[in-house]
Amino acid sequence: VKNVGILAMEIYFPPTCVQQEALEVHDGVSKGKYTIGLGQDCMAFCTDVEDIISMSLTAVSSLLEKYNVDPKQIGRLEVGSETVLDKSKAIKTFLMQIFEEHGNTDIEGVDSTNACYGGTAALFNCVNWVESSSWDGRYGLVICTDSAVYAEGPARPTGGAASIAMLVGPDAPIVFESKLRGSHMAHAYDFYKPNLASEYPVVDGKLSQSCYLMSVDACYKHYCNKYEKFEGKQFSVDDAEYIVFHSPYNKLVQKSFARLMYNDFLRNARSINEDAKEKLSPFSNLSIDESYQSRDLEKVSQQVAKPLYDKKVQPTTLIPKQIGNTYTASLYSAFASLIHNKQSELTGKRIIMFSYGSGLAATMFSFRLNEGQHPFSLSNIAAVMNVADKLESRHELMEHRYGAKDFVTSNDTSLLAPGTYYLTEVDSSYRRFYAKK
Ligand code: ACO
Repeated sequence: VKNVGILAMEIYFPPTCVQQEALEVHDGVSKGKYTIGLGQDCMAFCTDVEDIISMSLTAVSSLLEKYNVDPKQIGRLEVGSETVLDKSKAIKTFLMQIFEEHGNTDIEGVDSTNACYGGTAALFNCVNWVESSSWDGRYGLVICTDSAVYAEGPARPTGGAASIAMLVGPDAPIVFESKLRGSHMAHAYDFYKPNLASEYPVVDGKLSQSCYLMSVDACYKHYCNKYEKFEGKQFSVDDAEYIVFHSPYNKLVQKSFARLMYNDFLRNARSINEDAKEKLSPFSNLSIDESYQSRDLEKVSQQVAKPLYDKKVQPTTLIPKQIGNTYTASLYSAFASLIHNKQSELTGKRIIMFSYGSGLAATMFSFRLNEGQHPFSLSNIAAVMNVADKLESRHELMEHRYGAKDFVTSNDTSLLAPGTYYLTEVDSSYRRFYAKK
């Protein structure tokens, strides 16, 4: 088997979202705190009619339909999620409904959980299966599905919700460079969910930021070492066309890329020009701990990294900025943004991926891209995901219902008390109709 990787992708996020600007006003924080301070535009959330299971059912059935994949052709189904609705029954078993209908119950795989890393674990399981002696020639299917919600406080604006489905097999347009993986796994209490009755995590925001950045450093170091071992030459960010990060909020992505540049500076790598070298030289003798604490280094390295950030990272940021942290789906929603923005231009390019899950588990790995063959081609993946329309239509729903005509409402009254009146329909002559629960 050659060129094992991702053949097809579909993304689903709820149409309901809140503008970060409006959330700033609502929370009474200073203007710009969420939009500039965190770098976020909008946050998706599930209403009471959607959850991680319904979103994943939507993503899976849409993928199978739009790429014309027979459900019988799936031999492995893996789910990554950290949203626990049942302590024993896997989310995967809910998705089996789609396959049972078609007489296919011969499908391996269950759920993987470790905060935002579960999706990557699921993806690796599928890729490893296709590359192994137990592979039966069918496709693997990976689903990352999460609804991220936080208790009131500074973490609340970093929520989000989405589901992503990815088809795995040989001869893919998105090929794993399987030998090049650098991981960092350790014991930390930066973000965890010990209260089984609550959907909210316990989170130490500052600690989670530094665990994340330390993981970026450690994984990059391992990745570079492996690259150098196999390729016989030094690796720098110049060897990757794009770099995609797990994206709890955009500011952390900016800091992470700056951190890679600082690593390249310390390694005397070719991505660092004379100007950058001069600006970073005051920081060459910091201890590693000092380097995490230095606000000056953070500022200068972000400034030095800015031109390359705009080129190599900015095209990956659209969806995470628009829907928020989607935990296991976050990294792959950033990757989906890149495919949406660059499509066939990605042919021949190397893409670096950084996955982080609190607690903690992190891996840096890479893809090599080619156009592929319809329907499994970069341009078709972009067409199927249809990100621009999905983002646009949710704004339409919010902005255009006022004064609009000719629509029926969702008629979902589950949150309304008995006796409450609700809007059911506005007909083509702007006549409004109501019912009583
Ligand atoms: N205008 C512009 N910028 C502002 C403003 C303003 N009005 N107010 C604050 N800021 C800036 C701050 O200067 C800071 O920027 P900096 O980091 O460049 O210095 C930034 O906004 C954040 O503000 P802080 O006060 O440092 O942090 P805050 O109390 O808002 O908390 C945090 C942020 C820790 C990220 C919180 O939202 C959180 O706990 N989130 C969940 C944990 C998380 O996502 N961790 C990441 C990895 S783990 C994971 O994926 C879950």
